[in-house]
Amino acid sequence: MSSPPLTVLEVSDEEAAAIRAAVRGVDLKTLGEGRSEARPGDVDDLVEMLSDERVSGPIYDLPRPLTRDSVAAWIERGMAERAAGEGLVVLNRDDLGRLVGYTRVTVWPERSAAEIAGAIRAERQNTGEGGAGAIHTFDWIFTALGVRMMCLTAASDNIRSARLIDAAGFVRMGERDVVRPDGGVRRSLYWEITRDQWRARWG
Ligand SMILES: CC(C)(COP(=O)(O)OP(=O)(O)OC[C@H]1O[C@@H](n2cnc3c(N)ncnc32)[C@H](O)[C@@H]1OP(=O)(O)O)[C@@H](O)C(=O)NCCC(=O)NCCS
Repeated sequence: MSSPPLTVLEVSDEEAAAIRAAVRGVDLKTLGEGRSEARPGDVDDLVEMLSDERVSGPIYDLPRPLTRDSVAAWIERGMAERAAGEGLVVLNRDDLGRLVGYTRVTVWPERSAAEIAGAIRAERQNTGEGGAGAIHTFDWIFTALGVRMMCLTAASDNIRSARLIDAAGFVRMGERDVVRPDGGVRRSLYWEITRDQWRARWG
């Protein structure tokens, strides 16, 4: 399960309410063409994509085992989180409508903070697409959702993620334990970045 950032920001009720409203109301097409919220009708495509361990293996917060039922429940939870203004599961489809990636955003409005996890299809990995897509998505989260802080975790052996997160300007803050849905604990690298730090780096 996702944990909020270690750093605690002071957040007014108005700011938290604005973030909740943004999560509920944001048009996912502002993130890019082919983006949509995961819905029950996407279950088979998600099971197919996530069943590839090269896609889902490194991600701690996906349901295990990955079955039609567990993925359907995960989609329902994502929709409930969106309705509460506390999360989003965004799918990315190519021009032909094929599911090519997903991003799960967890939002803590009272902390003005968000975390993401996600993956792209194996044949699209290692081509720079993940890195470019992540920068674009981080920027969108700060701008479209209005949070002032992002945190990220990655397994210590996930070299691609670590390089990507370092290159984006996130600040390493040691390690923390993350809890899988089955209760297992994974020691993970941990990063944070504030919106001000983000804008100082990327404009
Ligand atoms: C993580 C993921 C989104 C990255 O996207 P990607 O398109 O594969 O990655 P990129 O090609 O942008 O490469 C990211 C960085 O890793 C580096 N890299 C790629 N393969 C590498 C390897 N085998 N060894 C070392 N570095 C490697 C790249 O050079 C790049 O670093 P740079 O910007 O300093 O050059 C994608 O690999 C993925 O979906 N993986 C499975 C799920 C996952 O791990 N999700 C993240 C969980 S935190």
